[in-house]
Amino acid sequence: MTPELVVHAVPPFSLSGAAERVQRDAQALLDGPELARAQAMEPASRSRFLAGRLAQRRFAAELLGVRGSRLVAAYSCPRCGTGPGITHGRPGYLLDGGPAPLVLSLSRAAGWTLLAAVAGPPDSCRLGVDVEDPARTGFDGFPALALTHAEQQVVGHLSGGALLAGRARLWARKEAVLKMTGDGLRTAPSSLDVLQRNDVRDLLPAETGLPARLAAAVALSWAVPQPTGRGGRASS
Ligand SMILES: CC(C)(COP(=O)(O)OP(=O)(O)OC[C@H]1O[C@@H](n2cnc3c(N)ncnc32)[C@H](O)[C@@H]1OP(=O)(O)O)[C@@H](O)C(=O)NCCC(=O)NCCS
Repeated sequence: MTPELVVHAVPPFSLSGAAERVQRDAQALLDGPELARAQAMEPASRSRFLAGRLAQRRFAAELLGVRGSRLVAAYSCPRCGTGPGITHGRPGYLLDGGPAPLVLSLSRAAGWTLLAAVAGPPDSCRLGVDVEDPARTGFDGFPALALTHAEQQVVGHLSGGALLAGRARLWARKEAVLKMTGDGLRTAPSSLDVLQRNDVRDLLPAETGLPARLAAAVALSWAVPQPTGRGGRASS
């Protein structure tokens, strides 16, 4: 059965006093290691980080039908591993001491936080989501840094806003895939082709509630690895 994907976008906070409220809610709801990581950031980044973590915890709690205070952040970094002090990498939560039955992904851009989750996922389920601001792709070295040769051909004839939108769409797909695999940018994005993959797709504004100018993508895989011995097939 296809796992059900839920996506949710949280708008930038701009009301007066919002940063103070984020700080207060974070103290009440987030875990010590999350707060410690935030403490090392400059104020604007700290507020965005905390707002995203609060939104993620509330989103997860609602999907699981529990109070957010029952969840303990449990991150997994490809380099540092997992454990109580790890607060970066692939997101997740513990519930009553065991892994909460939820795969999650988060992305922030232009003040927005984009969240995606699959509740009650199969063991093999992996998820990545990304939102990008096209304005951030408008530098000369972008194609060589970020795109494969085939991708450069696809956007090469575009110009102006259409070029930036095309670049952002490809970049969002790449980061979604790199979060799904957990590798992040340890994999060179220019080596990852996202034109033909069937495990990543663009997310439309109607699905997310994001403004149309932002690009977003989700990558989802739940393939059960096939046995590679006689009669089996290597998973792709
Ligand atoms: C994942 C990555 C591509 C996202 O970059 P970005 O565009 O700057 O940020 P986004 O807002 O889209 O996403 C940030 C979220 O990605 C998620 N994330 C980070 N690393 C991840 C990984 N390896 N796998 C899956 N998700 C990851 C986290 O939920 C993070 O949210 P947080 O800031 O609340 O911790 C980039 O941060 C990256 O490559 N990180 C890993 C690099 C690495 O392994 N470094 C070793 C650290 S010791």
